[in-house]
Amino acid sequence: MKNYTSIHDIDNIHSWIEEAKDLKANPLKHINLGKHKTLGLLFFNSSLRTRLSTQKAALNLGMDPIVMNVSGDAWGIEFGDGTVMNGNTAEHIKEAAAVVSQYCDIIAVRAFPTLIDKEKDESEQVLKAFVKYASVPIVNMESATGHPLQGLTDAITISEFTKKAKPKVVLSWAPHIKALPHAVANSFTQAMQKMDVDFVITNPKGYNLNPEITGSTPIIHNQEEAFKNADFVYVKNWSSYEDYGKVINTDPNWMITKEKLAGAKFMHCLPVRRNVVVEDAVLDSENSLVIKQANNRTYAAQLVLKKILEHV
Ligand code: CP
Repeated sequence: MKNYTSIHDIDNIHSWIEEAKDLKANPLKHINLGKHKTLGLLFFNSSLRTRLSTQKAALNLGMDPIVMNVSGDAWGIEFGDGTVMNGNTAEHIKEAAAVVSQYCDIIAVRAFPTLIDKEKDESEQVLKAFVKYASVPIVNMESATGHPLQGLTDAITISEFTKKAKPKVVLSWAPHIKALPHAVANSFTQAMQKMDVDFVITNPKGYNLNPEITGSTPIIHNQEEAFKNADFVYVKNWSSYEDYGKVINTDPNWMITKEKLAGAKFMHCLPVRRNVVVEDAVLDSENSLVIKQANNRTYAAQLVLKKILEHV
């Protein structure tokens, strides 16, 4: 594997899950694979889990991680072709990506969407520019439209905790005060479409995700109906896709409660706003998988780095 930019880079999710579980059982098994190799982590946006778990994954493979907060600490990067750079940007991505490629054997990038310019966000300008101008493999640590390290993590977690051959998995929208990206919901949807699960999405009208991603997955606008017989409820807020980037609904009736879950396992990528997205009683219950889910971020990232290292 050269780059990991999307869930579509997973050729066989079942074998990947088994391999990730094997890494989890013995994290230092491949400690020499990344010896004298450097992982560069470039953050255009904030992070707790991705930043730490991806470094931990690199360390488990014997790699040396180096981290930079690009926004604020680096020169403003220009992504446009042929731009007269007499504004706020001081360095073109052509030079920046080529230079970082000399310091790193793999580059991981986090760059969120604008949530204003749909066309620009869907072009994945930042991620694709790194793929184009870097001479080393690129890992997506959450881009404008996808969070494939999280999607892989979520597939691993469901595989670990399911008691059925084909569990019912529900992706539910929940309210939030801010406009949030679609990346987590998109990658979770794509991961579930590769799994042996009965998968449905529930969200208010006006909040359907990109139909090119949801495809034939059922979308139910009645949360109570969608939750019937659910084994796993994966919760996430996202802003409207149709009325791009807007918050058009904050109805607290969509908040996740213990009563609604009726014993289903609760999942969320974190960070989560308590008592806005989900009530305390859920997060503090044994049915919440969020901490175990966050632990699996390390093994998802470790598996991706391992697969890339085996081919560099
Ligand atoms: N879930 C996730 O990506 O967490 P961070 O934003 O803290 O990295």
